[in-house]
Amino acid sequence: MSQEALFQEKRNGEDTECCRVGKESVLITLGYSSALLKFESHAGNSFSNTLKRCWNKKKEYSVFSQRTEEASAAQYFQFYGCISQQQNMMQDFVRTATYHRAILQNHVDFRDKIVLDVGCGSGILSFFAVQAGAKRVYAVEASSVAQYAEMLVKNNHLSDKIIVLPGKIEEVSLPEAVDVIISEPIGYMLFNERMLESYLHSKKWLKTNGMMFPTFSDIHLAPFSDEQLYVEHYSRANFWYQQCFYGVNLSSLRGAAVDEYFRQPIVDTFDVRILMARSVKYTVNFMDAEEADLHRVEIPFVFQMVQSGLIHGLAFWFDVAFVGSLVTVWLSTAPTEPLTHWYQVRCLLQTPLFAKEGETLSGKVLFVANKRQSYDIQITALVNQTGFRSGNILDLKNPFFRFRIIPSFLRGEKASTFPL
Ligand SMILES: C[S@@+](CC[C@H](N)C(=O)[O-])C[C@H]1O[C@@H](n2cnc3c(N)ncnc32)[C@H](O)[C@@H]1O
Repeated sequence: MSQEALFQEKRNGEDTECCRVGKESVLITLGYSSALLKFESHAGNSFSNTLKRCWNKKKEYSVFSQRTEEASAAQYFQFYGCISQQQNMMQDFVRTATYHRAILQNHVDFRDKIVLDVGCGSGILSFFAVQAGAKRVYAVEASSVAQYAEMLVKNNHLSDKIIVLPGKIEEVSLPEAVDVIISEPIGYMLFNERMLESYLHSKKWLKTNGMMFPTFSDIHLAPFSDEQLYVEHYSRANFWYQQCFYGVNLSSLRGAAVDEYFRQPIVDTFDVRILMARSVKYTVNFMDAEEADLHRVEIPFVFQMVQSGLIHGLAFWFDVAFVGSLVTVWLSTAPTEPLTHWYQVRCLLQTPLFAKEGETLSGKVLFVANKRQSYDIQITALVNQTGFRSGNILDLKNPFFRFRIIPSFLRGEKASTFPL
């Protein structure tokens, strides 16, 4: 048997297509790659080897692999492959109960519908969709936890309804378009993990007039005053101030240590009384947004100060809305609401800014996506009446977990095991 294979890179198109050309040739298109296979007789191993090469090329060029360092992806999916991490999320009562309520209270949107669950993890949201009457659910999961989702599906006698598809949403093929997409693609500060892009990517499988659950999200920011937090960061760096640590002078690294600590967003919760102005919000509408919209997110702000004092930084939280035909359900991570495993996140300014009640603080927060499935954050701020300026550049991939109260969903687990 002889075979001639022609590989072409096709930079557009995502679907897998296969067509016979004459009697002895087959044209296969997988994502960005096409192969024209010519056979003299039955193809056998050569055929499957060629398919594998096509498949590897598809992975190489998938949207996910292009935007992600391999080491980051490996660590990320290893994390989510652990049953214990899936359990942590499932035990976040506010999160899981809100998803359950949002889906079941909008049962008309699920009854007899085809559903896609992006990053199904344990498959919990797929089960909710079936409880709400879904006809069929495609449950896509890239980590090894897919095998456990499959076990749960079998053991719950739902193999006819839930089809677990191991793989990345950017790389798998579905046999049909779907009516509803469900997912929990949310990281710290909403954007961490860059899974929202995978969620938006999955819209290629959504029918026109299909639904996204969640539908949109509001990220909120507000200036805060917290002297203790600011001093604490300096104190941590002061370790490097020592001139005789076991006989070694560490002081030349003190500046670098301060820089590093100030680049860390702080994950914890706080009393709302530290907020110095009403929050500004920025909306991401998952129905309209495209993946590229999240590569660079610029949030301009103008805060009207409601109290005088030192502004040490900006606090962030987010709300997520499920807009169904019957009800809209909100999942909130605001400091006024019950705590979730996302807590709130605060970014310090390098230098605090003094502002009086009635004055305005204006500026912007810029999120720039990086290949470590996270964002570089740039903050610039100006007190308009005095001209005082400050800012900071932070690394969302490396947050500082400061919370002291360990809620039940984290008990027995190290918080720092959340994906960074
Ligand atoms: C935050 S967890 C949610 C798990 C589950 N849906 C739940 O609500 O409990 C996100 C899951 O999505 C998976 N995931 C992330 N990116 C993915 C992608 N591009 N394709 C498929 N799965 C992905 C992760 O491995 C992880 O299990």
